[in-house]
Amino acid sequence: MSDRYQALAHTQVGKLVVKNLGLPNPPRLERYTPDSALVEGTVLVAAAPSSTLGDQLMADLSASGISTARSQVDGATYRGLVLDATGIDSTAGLGEVQAFFTPVLRSLARSGRVLVIGTPPENAADDGRAIAQRALEGVTRSLGKEVGRGATVQLLYVATGAEAGMRSTLDFFLSPKSAYVSGQVVRIGASGTIGVAPVRDPLRPLDGKVALVTGASRGLGAAMARTLHRDGATVVGLDVPALAGDLKALLDELDGESLVLDITAKDAPQRTAAYLSSHHGGVDVVVHNAGITRDKRLQNMNPQNWDLVIDINVGAPQRITAELLAQGLIRGNGRVLAVSSIAGIAGNNGQTNYAASKAGVIGFVHDLAGRVATDDITVNAVAPGFIETDMVKTIPLTVREAGRRMNSMAQGGLPIDVAETIAWLAHPGSSAVTGNVVRVCGQSLLGA
Ligand SMILES: NC(=O)c1ccc[n+]([C@@H]2O[C@H](COP(=O)([O-])OP(=O)(O)OC[C@H]3O[C@@H](n4cnc5c(N)ncnc54)[C@H](O)[C@@H]3O)[C@@H](O)[C@H]2O)c1
Repeated sequence: MSDRYQALAHTQVGKLVVKNLGLPNPPRLERYTPDSALVEGTVLVAAAPSSTLGDQLMADLSASGISTARSQVDGATYRGLVLDATGIDSTAGLGEVQAFFTPVLRSLARSGRVLVIGTPPENAADDGRAIAQRALEGVTRSLGKEVGRGATVQLLYVATGAEAGMRSTLDFFLSPKSAYVSGQVVRIGASGTIGVAPVRDPLRPLDGKVALVTGASRGLGAAMARTLHRDGATVVGLDVPALAGDLKALLDELDGESLVLDITAKDAPQRTAAYLSSHHGGVDVVVHNAGITRDKRLQNMNPQNWDLVIDINVGAPQRITAELLAQGLIRGNGRVLAVSSIAGIAGNNGQTNYAASKAGVIGFVHDLAGRVATDDITVNAVAPGFIETDMVKTIPLTVREAGRRMNSMAQGGLPIDVAETIAWLAHPGSSAVTGNVVRVCGQSLLGA
């Protein structure tokens, strides 16, 4: 749906009004198109003393065709700023963060990208390192609120042994693909097929892969189907019988296949498994996107709407995944991706059933990630904030406007923003990224 305020704020008169009244000023967010370079401009890379990722970082950025500089040049503008902070092991050492960023932040381009890279505090050998590395979260989340002009800031914690598993994540967070993702902390762990998954064509990393997307006929699911197809996957789109026509039209356009069923049907796990087994001998990427809301405050909730929301949003994904795993249908370097929501993190008035289901999705991811790591399967969730789809049309106007503006981008995201995040997690090179919940919310104040 359209954001009239944003359109108005970009007119000549609108700009004046916004400035003089101090109103929210939503910047134009730059988004990725395959016909432009992944990153247009130079990324400045620096390292705190004793940091260890320098060589790997430079090799990764160079392999992705990203232009880099190691020291700031007067008058230059930077598309990205990357600080390897893995060497910081005391609170005094945090001064390195200020020393790098303060002089260079004014040189960050519009829609620029800032990455701080650390090591997981939970793996730290001593308290000084644990405290300093955890402190980096405070820096990045605050800087995300300061940078403005469509810029984003993230923290990547890279575990020892996972150094070769950073590239797909660097590509995503330095490029316009991550336009509506900011203030996130992502853990890159040392499991899976790190660094060895060959990608022949960087524009089609999912060539030869099969991706199942539930709820694919419209909204976020349709954007995911399109984006995974763009990246080379054969997409099997699943949706309810009532939307079979829309589903077929989309999947025909994508040379994909439709699977018409209700995921809460008793035999849905077996039918899904049978389809993927007989048509493709398995599946590489499973995206549990189908979801509904039935909002009512708990004092007015009926049991039907409570059960339905929980069963569609988390019960069915759990059962379908269990069946696919039991039949050994999720192939090596496979992906299970689920869609949570910031309501599942922050809670929301009138959404106890929905928030329970979406918090349950986070539980599903955290539980399953550890159990399937040895099978070479990663499990992650995206947690969208306010995304411009049919689902948000039903929100009352004032609540809708608040949801749109109360984030670092002062606007809602687009379905493509969630789809790009799914595509990054689905990328064969993202094998070291598991057990993460990544918010696609423009750094919403809710649950921040
Ligand atoms: N739009 C947002 O702002 C937002 C924010 C946070 C989370 N989400 C989540 O993103 C996902 C997609 O949301 P959307 O905005 O695209 O919604 P949408 O209503 O446009 O699409 C949801 C799709 O799921 C399908 N679906 C529902 N029940 C099903 C069932 N029983 N079996 C098979 N398919 C079923 C629907 O038919 C529909 O195609 C949902 O899980 C939603 O909770 C959306």
